[in-house]
Amino acid sequence: MADRWMYRIIYLSTAARQITPEDLESILSHAQINNARDGITGLLMFHDNNFLQFLEGEQAAVMACVKRIEANTMHRQIMRVFAGEVDQRLFAEWSMAFARPATTLPNAPGVRAFDAVRALLPDIERGDRRVAIMIRNFFSSFRDVG
Ligand SMILES: Cc1cc2nc3c(=O)[nH]c(=O)nc-3n(C[C@H](O)[C@H](O)[C@H](O)COP(=O)(O)O)c2cc1C
Repeated sequence: MADRWMYRIIYLSTAARQITPEDLESILSHAQINNARDGITGLLMFHDNNFLQFLEGEQAAVMACVKRIEANTMHRQIMRVFAGEVDQRLFAEWSMAFARPATTLPNAPGVRAFDAVRALLPDIERGDRRVAIMIRNFFSSFRDVG
């Protein structure tokens, strides 16, 4: 079902220090609790010190969430790739899915292997081609997962 007045933000950022499995679990648990409360869904990908995150929901909620994320000192050089209205959610199942290579998966609920995201690409591409391009580019920029 198409959601009206959906807003999506996509950004890339770089870890400001060595990110530990505990850091990732902390990000994910905050994200899942807050995003479920705020009606936000999305996907956070992490590899080689780089984050790529997709956030979607009601505009004011997404903007408030991004403000908190941008204030987090765990990452820096936050580059917004896209912010705008879209006509549907692409990650409706996930309050925040966290994706990383299968070989380095921490043991936490909500964690997905890159392969699980790769399997969704045809659906994502039908929803918004640019989002699929971003995810493919993220994969292909790392020799070990590309
Ligand atoms: C890469 C990254 C992604 C994050 N994603 C989210 C998110 O999707 N939702 C969220 O509420 N917090 C997210 N955070 C955490 C926020 O920066 C912040 O710590 C948190 O929202 C504060 O939650 P609290 O008000 O419950 O303490 C993220 C942090 C980082 C570094």
